Amino acid sequence: MSGYRPRVLLISGSVAQTAHTRMLVVTLAAALKLNNVEPDLLDLRATPLPIADPVYHEAPEGHPEPAVREIAERASAASGFVLGSPVYHNSYSGVLKNCLDHLGIKHFAGKPVALVAHGGTIRNFQPCDHLRIVVRGMHGNAIVPQVVTTDSDYALQAGRLVIVERAVLRRITALAQHLSQQIHVLHELAARNNGGLAAPRRRGAHTKTGPDRDPTVATAEGGEHIV
Ligand SMILES: Cc1cc2nc3c(=O)[nH]c(=O)nc-3n(C[C@H](O)[C@H](O)[C@H](O)COP(=O)(O)O)c2cc1C
Repeated sequence: MSGYRPRVLLISGSVAQTAHTRMLVVTLAAALKLNNVEPDLLDLRATPLPIADPVYHEAPEGHPEPAVREIAERASAASGFVLGSPVYHNSYSGVLKNCLDHLGIKHFAGKPVALVAHGGTIRNFQPCDHLRIVVRGMHGNAIVPQVVTTDSDYALQAGRLVIVERAVLRRITALAQHLSQQIHVLHELAARNNGGLAAPRRRGAHTKTGPDRDPTVATAEGGEHIV
């Protein structure tokens, strides 16, 4: 690999004080570091965000709240993402969705996204399934490997939650390798194509001809929402 060290924004979507999701994301961040990636951790408990305001949907960089401007900058600087969520009512958490609603296609388009989740009683993968659809809506590429944990995968050590289940740790290592590889391959292809690969899709490449035939809807920001 070259000296290229991409940044990945990891978002922990739990506001619990001792969050398993946070530890899952932190463990993945450490694994990414070993794979030539610079992790940038966004803990939504430590960084509470206001309810997303549609006025700033396409320009969160101009939001009056500094925390929103900052996450938009961090998302723009990221070459990939990790989205982590607790299982809430068979899906992902509202705080994570609110965070994503501050961001948009321009932050995610063409970037690989890894999904991880934590459920209290079983390894419930529904948050990851549901997040795949959300990521697609923002033109990100949700990668196939994912990691799902449950309480028995963790132990308290010196008052701190740590992952002790070896199979889970192996999956985290594999996920970090996969995400890193995807980002580095994309970078090499983009460099070979002189940036062509990373260029945004041509506006109007799909013209809406009818609700049944065209799966895209044009947006003012030059991207298209995929239905
Ligand atoms: C609002 C809410 C809804 C929940 N819904 C589910 C659920 O549908 N299925 C489930 O297994 N656990 C559910 N839980 C339990 C959480 O998944 C569990 O507490 C988990 O440890 C939270 O992860 P965290 O420690 O990262 O916050 C729910 C918890 C809350 C607060």
